[in-house]
Amino acid sequence: MVITPARAEDRLPALVVDGLSVSLGGRELVRGVRLEVGATERVALIGASGSGKSLTAAAVLGTLPAGAQVRGSVQVAGVEVTGRPPARRPAAARVAAVGQDPAAALNPLVPVGAQLALPLRNHRGLRGAELARQRTELLAAVGLDDAERVLHSSPGELSGGQRQRVCIAMALASRAGLLVADEPTTALDLVTQAQVVTVLREATRDAALLFITHDLAVAAALCDRAVVLHGGAVVEDAPITRLLTDPRHEQSAALVRAARAGALPTRAGVAS
Ligand SMILES: Nc1ncnc2c1ncn2[C@@H]1O[C@H](COP(=O)(O)OP(=O)(O)OP(=O)(O)O)[C@@H](O)[C@H]1O
Ligand SMILES: [Mg+2]
Repeated sequence: MVITPARAEDRLPALVVDGLSVSLGGRELVRGVRLEVGATERVALIGASGSGKSLTAAAVLGTLPAGAQVRGSVQVAGVEVTGRPPARRPAAARVAAVGQDPAAALNPLVPVGAQLALPLRNHRGLRGAELARQRTELLAAVGLDDAERVLHSSPGELSGGQRQRVCIAMALASRAGLLVADEPTTALDLVTQAQVVTVLREATRDAALLFITHDLAVAAALCDRAVVLHGGAVVEDAPITRLLTDPRHEQSAALVRAARAGALPTRAGVAS
């Protein structure tokens, strides 16, 4: 029997956030956020520093600080997960995370191979030769072809860009339907940034991505749509091309000006 994978347009959205508010210490820092990411869509969450991007991401990932008060709804693949930490979510609602600081995300004392084996073993139940094969495949998928060396290296023996590729490989290892990447390229130089953007694009061909950045130029190189946050609230939700040419909110216009002041990479430019 041939099993045809569900067509992307028939699948549930990977993420639906509705009326999400987050308060800490009595201050409402995320205010009524609504956003949606389709099953194979790449959506950028953009906004100035302090606009609430990381808190929104933490609500999606289930990693808000203790004491956070949450209202509204977060649904991952149709499963209500609001306020539930990752360990208390069903496998179907798994969300993978890539952060800003790959050095902090990896254990400095453990070789990369052993760290990459963990999600393959724990989430996918792989063992032995199959685990080793998939581990090498994952490294190749993120552009790390020298698998043997990388697997035996400790994180400190890799470059920042290589470490971030390892983190993306670890995120992909769990086969989550949604990847949340919070400023994954901010700590990297421009060339490495472009390479990591390409890796993320390839890695999310059949998955959803919520890509958090304050940099509209990077968002434009990777995503089709952007949700703009300001003061914890959504002020614009639009295709990136429209946002670049016709921003309708002052904050969006400020992000466009900032992107134009830097070199605005095109899709083709970044992909090469
Ligand atoms: N643990 C916390 N306790 C109290 N306030 C917090 C906490 N985390 C974030 N905030 C506040 O919430 C607001 C939004 O923070 P958030 O980290 O979501 O911003 P951001 O958009 O990710 O900014 P950046 O681009 O600098 O990463 C800020 O005013 C911040 O000071
Ligand atoms: Mg942040």
